[in-house]
Amino acid sequence: VDLAPLTTLGVPARAAHYCAAGSEDEIRAALDWAHSRDLPVLVLGGGSNMVFVDDYAGLVLQPLLRGRALVGESDSHYLVRVGAGERWHDAVEWTLAQGWPGLENLALIPGNVGAAPIQNIGAYGLELTDRFHSLEALNRRTGERVTLDRAACRFGYRDSVFKHPDGRDLIVLSVCFALPKVWLPMTGYRDITEELAARHIDTPAPRDIFDAVIAVRQRKLPDPAVVGNVGSFFKNPVVDAATHAQLQAGHPKLVSHPQTDGRFKLAAGWLIDQAGWKGKALGAARVHPAQALVLTNPGGARGADIMALAQAIRRDVQAQFGVALEPEPIVVGALDEQ
Ligand code: EPU
Repeated sequence: VDLAPLTTLGVPARAAHYCAAGSEDEIRAALDWAHSRDLPVLVLGGGSNMVFVDDYAGLVLQPLLRGRALVGESDSHYLVRVGAGERWHDAVEWTLAQGWPGLENLALIPGNVGAAPIQNIGAYGLELTDRFHSLEALNRRTGERVTLDRAACRFGYRDSVFKHPDGRDLIVLSVCFALPKVWLPMTGYRDITEELAARHIDTPAPRDIFDAVIAVRQRKLPDPAVVGNVGSFFKNPVVDAATHAQLQAGHPKLVSHPQTDGRFKLAAGWLIDQAGWKGKALGAARVHPAQALVLTNPGGARGADIMALAQAIRRDVQAQFGVALEPEPIVVGALDEQ
C-alpha cells in the first residue's frame, strides 16, 4: 500500500500491509492477524505528524472509529466523547456548533482525534490537556481495554505517556473532552490578539476566535493539501536560566518564554530563521518561507531529503547557538535519529 496519500508530508513509502479499522473488533482482528504472522504493527492516525524515511515491512493500522456525543455533564463542564478516527478540525467545529466551546484555539490542526493526545497538541495558548477528561484505549499486548484520566496520560509539552515505553502499547479508541460551561476567551497569544484587533473585535465570541485562528494558520502555515508538511518539524527547546541568560547576552532579540519551573522555552523558528534557513531549500526539501519551523515537500522530496535538511538545520543551530533541536514528528525508518 502506498503511504504517501495517507500522510500530509506525502513522501514516497510503502507498507507491506495496511488495515483501516472501523471498530474495536476490527482493530483486535488486525492485531491478531499481524501477531500470527510475526509482523510489527504501526498505528497511523491522520498521518500529519509522521515522516516515513523507509518502507514499512509490517502492518500499518489506521483506527478509523467514528462517533461524537455528549456523554455527561457536571455543574462546570460538558463531557463530550469523540471517536479516534474523527477528523480533529471537524470535531472542533462540531463542538462549537453544539454550543460547547473551548477547543476553538486548536482549530485547523490537521490529523485525527486519536492522535491528539499522543503529542498533546497545542496552539495559541491552549493544549489538549487543558480540555481533556479521559480516553479509552486498547492495550495491544494484553488485549485489555483501559480508561486513562489526565494524570495517567502524563501530558507534557508535545509529550504524553503514549510516547514512552509504558504507554507505547496503547491504541487510543476515543477521547472524552471536558468543555467548560463558563467559557472564557483565550486571546493572549500575540498572533490572535493582533488578528482580532485587525477585525475590530473587542469581545470575541468562540466563533470569532475559531475564525481568527484559522486566518492566522492559513497565513503562516502551508496547507498540507497543497504543500506537503508535518507542521512544526522541531520542538521548541527548553533551556535552563543560566543558558538562557548567556544566549540573551549574545542575542538581544532572542525570542523566549519563561516556564513555571524557572527554565525558558526558546522559539525554534526564530533560531532557524536567524541561522538563515527560512525559505531555503536543500535538495528537494524546503523550509517554509512564512514559518521557518516548518519543513516542506514542495513535490518530489523523499523522507531522506527532509531528514537531510533537518540535519543541516540542527547542525547550524547547534553551531550558532549551542542549542540542540529535537524533531517533533515521529520518524519511521532507518534514518530515525531520535
Ligand atoms: N519566528 C521567527 N521566524 C520564523 C518563525 C517564528 O522569528 O520563521 C518567531 C515568531 O516571530 C515568534 C516566535 O518565533 O516570535 C514563535 O513563532 P510562532 O508564534 O509562529 O509559534 P512557534 O513557536 O513557531 C508553536 C507550535 C505550533 C503552534 C504555534 C502557535 C511547537 C513546536 N509549535 O510554533 O504548533 O501552532 O506555536 O501556538 O510548539 C505544530 O506543533 O505542528 C505546530 C504548528
